[in-house]
Amino acid sequence: MKEKLQKIRENAIAEIEKSDGLERLNEVRMAILGKKGELTAVLKGMKEVAPEDRPKVGQWVNETREAIESILEEKKKKLEAEALRLRYESEKIDVTMPAEKNKHGNLHPITQVRNQLIDIFGSMGFEVYEGTEIETDHYNFTALNTPQDHPARDMQDTFYLSPEFLLRTQTSAGQIHVMEAKKPPIKIISPGKVFRSDDDATHSPMFTQMEGLVVDKGITLCDLKGMLDEFVKKIFGKETTTRLRPSYFPFTEPSVEVDVSCFQCGGKGCKLCKGTGWIEVLGAGVVNNKVLEGCNIDTEEYSGFAFGIGIERIAMLKYGINNIKLLFESDLRVLDQIDD
Ligand code: DAH
Repeated sequence: MKEKLQKIRENAIAEIEKSDGLERLNEVRMAILGKKGELTAVLKGMKEVAPEDRPKVGQWVNETREAIESILEEKKKKLEAEALRLRYESEKIDVTMPAEKNKHGNLHPITQVRNQLIDIFGSMGFEVYEGTEIETDHYNFTALNTPQDHPARDMQDTFYLSPEFLLRTQTSAGQIHVMEAKKPPIKIISPGKVFRSDDDATHSPMFTQMEGLVVDKGITLCDLKGMLDEFVKKIFGKETTTRLRPSYFPFTEPSVEVDVSCFQCGGKGCKLCKGTGWIEVLGAGVVNNKVLEGCNIDTEEYSGFAFGIGIERIAMLKYGINNIKLLFESDLRVLDQIDD
């Protein structure tokens, strides 16, 4: 019996040594110590051993078992350490390798300017109202004091979808929706796409505007001028000033065209301002009483001002873009340069 156990032990040691992985080692363990293992079989055969020899044989079996277990454990540790070493080796990072360049995009210039305008007007307390791109003739024109056959309709070449519906030609349509829905005080901006049948280096059939509307007690043209002075300094730089020129829009009276002092030459005259020292940036005015009355706002109590900014125009001026098409062509050589 002793010899048999010795054999089992030697055989086990050889098998354990040969094991080249944890899986194989487990197989070896099962073959010796498992339910159907060699050593377990010896234990099961104890009934055939003479009773007086049993304690002795039992002790041998236990010794053999302990010896095998301790060798198994040792080998297991070795194999685990080796597995870990291999893992570390395979996951090793060479920190001296040049880093892969992460190219990150930037927002489209129109979105950048739009966000800047929202930030500036937001800081002055304006709320954002977003209208719809399809409008009725009423909201886009009639309610803005531009009824059918009004000559001012010729100022904007309109895409009609039906006699009633059209693609809005101006974000001014939003003014009416806001005044119908809300009592003064009103202080909103309304950014969005507008559409006109117009196509050259500075005009595109689709472009972006931002409307502004303030209605409250005692609002005058001076409030408009003061707010514009603030606005142009924030968007074009601290030195920029404004100049108002008389103009005409059906929904404002008086109406003005707003120029800014040329931020490139400081007013001396250059190519950008065509030698005049001034650049036209937006239209504005005191809200026409007819428009307020149409929205049931008491003109004895309230007055307002409105303005409309062309976002492409501001972007082209700010970033020195001379053709509006560059803003719609998605050419990364252009777009990559503008990260403001
Ligand atoms: N809606 C005008 C346009 O598209 C721009 C404009 C001018 C808006 C004067 C206004 C304003 O609110 O007061 O040409």
